[in-house]
Amino acid sequence: MAPPRDIAVLVGSLRRESFNRKAALGLARLAPERLSLAIVGIGALPLYDQDLDDDPPAAWTDFRERVRRADGLLFVTPEYNRSVPGVLKNAIDVGSRPYGKSAFANKPGAVISVSPGRYGGFGANHHLRQSCVFLDIPLMQQPEAYLGGVSDATFGPDGAVEDAAARKLLKRFIDAYADWIETILREPRQPH
Ligand code: FNR
Repeated sequence: MAPPRDIAVLVGSLRRESFNRKAALGLARLAPERLSLAIVGIGALPLYDQDLDDDPPAAWTDFRERVRRADGLLFVTPEYNRSVPGVLKNAIDVGSRPYGKSAFANKPGAVISVSPGRYGGFGANHHLRQSCVFLDIPLMQQPEAYLGGVSDATFGPDGAVEDAAARKLLKRFIDAYADWIETILREPRQPH
């Protein structure tokens, strides 16, 4: 059997009890065996500063290399002020540089937003999609995934998803993403 696809998961929250982190762990548990999901830390990345690109901090180069090794990218993000949290935007900016050497290009990706709010982080989800266009990330379009109304009752420990509706949404999303990965990787695209 082929080894599982290595999926780098970027979580847009640093909060210890983050719902997004719990959703990411839930996705890892619900994912089919052909995917292996690993959360890649973004909290210790120094803020992007173009002046540092000639001699980049080790945390930047480690992050870029880790993303480069991955077969795919999964973004799991909250919404901050109707947009992408700064910590995730910073990771995107770090990984996208130096110009012409983005670690993200051509990696099949998907976005899910998670919020206690009723709109499920729709604004962050779509602002992130806007960046993905420029980053040339072939992004899964359907199913769109806005997981709203989450609470302490939604998730249990170690990636358990207690809420049946949430579990169904996450399962459908990750199964579709597994298919998306294969669709994109079957015929590698040439950058233009
Ligand atoms: C929020 N929150 C929030 N929620 C939302 O649905 N839309 C929004 O625009 C915002 N804006 C926002 C800004 C800031 C600075 C914070 C700290 C929070 C609430 C947010 O969804 C909630 O705190 C989530 O629990 C954050 O995700 P994690 O940390 O649980 O993954």
